[in-house]
Amino acid sequence: MATLASNTLAAALAATIAVGVPTWVRAADAPVPVQIVDALNKRFGVHPGFRANHAKGIVAEGSFTASPQAAALSRSPLFAGAKLPVTVRFSDSGGQPDVPDAAPVANPHGMAIKFHLPGGAESDIVVNALKFFPVATAEEFLALQLAAASSPPGASPSPQLKAFLASHPSVAKATATVGTPASFAEEQYFGVDAFVFVNKAGKKQAFRYIVAPEKIVHLSKEEAAKKSTDYLMDDLPARLAKGPVTFHLKAQLAVPGDSTRDPSQAWPDDRPVVDLGVLTIDRVVADSTAAEKKLLFLPGRLTDGIEPSDDPLIAARDAAYAVSFGRRSANP
Ligand code: HEM
Repeated sequence: MATLASNTLAAALAATIAVGVPTWVRAADAPVPVQIVDALNKRFGVHPGFRANHAKGIVAEGSFTASPQAAALSRSPLFAGAKLPVTVRFSDSGGQPDVPDAAPVANPHGMAIKFHLPGGAESDIVVNALKFFPVATAEEFLALQLAAASSPPGASPSPQLKAFLASHPSVAKATATVGTPASFAEEQYFGVDAFVFVNKAGKKQAFRYIVAPEKIVHLSKEEAAKKSTDYLMDDLPARLAKGPVTFHLKAQLAVPGDSTRDPSQAWPDDRPVVDLGVLTIDRVVADSTAAEKKLLFLPGRLTDGIEPSDDPLIAARDAAYAVSFGRRSANP
């Protein structure tokens, strides 16, 4: 039932082949997803067993119950009405497993959702707190990581980073859309990439996911500076001990003329937003460190009734995540 964006398996294979080869041999002529993981490793260091990006996280479990509106938009089994178990991983940005949760580099925070369908199939949604993405293509993402790697944190930007930021104003614009959240439960997350619903009649509708909390709370710089290194990771189990945390899964619907190709361009705020259902987080798993190592979330792991759009980032992300997974699994 679950389908993958077409080149994911090829990329996973390439990743498996690439795993045993040292970085300096792969370098320039390696596929772009491999170069991206190398660039993330260059920027954040190699941390065996950890994700190349969003390395620090916490795994929780709960359920999803769809709304009737969702079933009208898509024939996906996600929206057939059954209460589905979910596994969710919240994360800090960046490839450092010990990053302080309130550090600017830990923004945007991330959320990855795995739906467990009847019969054993899985489907994933991978979202973050950026309202739109800093760049539009995998090649630009690679150039951004290399530019950032050339500029040590805390120092003034290197000429390479300065030049990239000057030629890509979308980076500053996108970064300005994030804040430091008080809790993973009090942050709003965006799908950024466009997908396409297909309903029972075959009607198609392009959309972007939004995962909305009950309330959004962002910290001031002063408040963030006082937070402990692991305040987000500590908050979630403490909060769940008192009761479940809920989010609404929503879809922002495109209207004719809205481009689905460019994840660095937000659609206007007046586009209709449909409530797809309620996501309830009940508990943190017993051993989050062990659980996260086995988990792989892929934005292109879809079901019938949800298709990738022409946004090139979806396949590029699937491929890069597979490369990162291949390496972290080979070096636990
Ligand atoms: C060219 C664009 C992108 C590239 C190359 C990229 C790369 C990566 C890589 C290599 C990982 C580690 C995967 C793993 O080891 O399992 C990762 C994780 C992640 N990325 Fe991206 N990313 C991109 C865009 C995005 C976007 C647009 C979002 C959100 C809208 C996003 C959200 C996340 C999240 C939440 C995780 C952590 C997933 C988990 O918990 O397993 N990324 N990314």
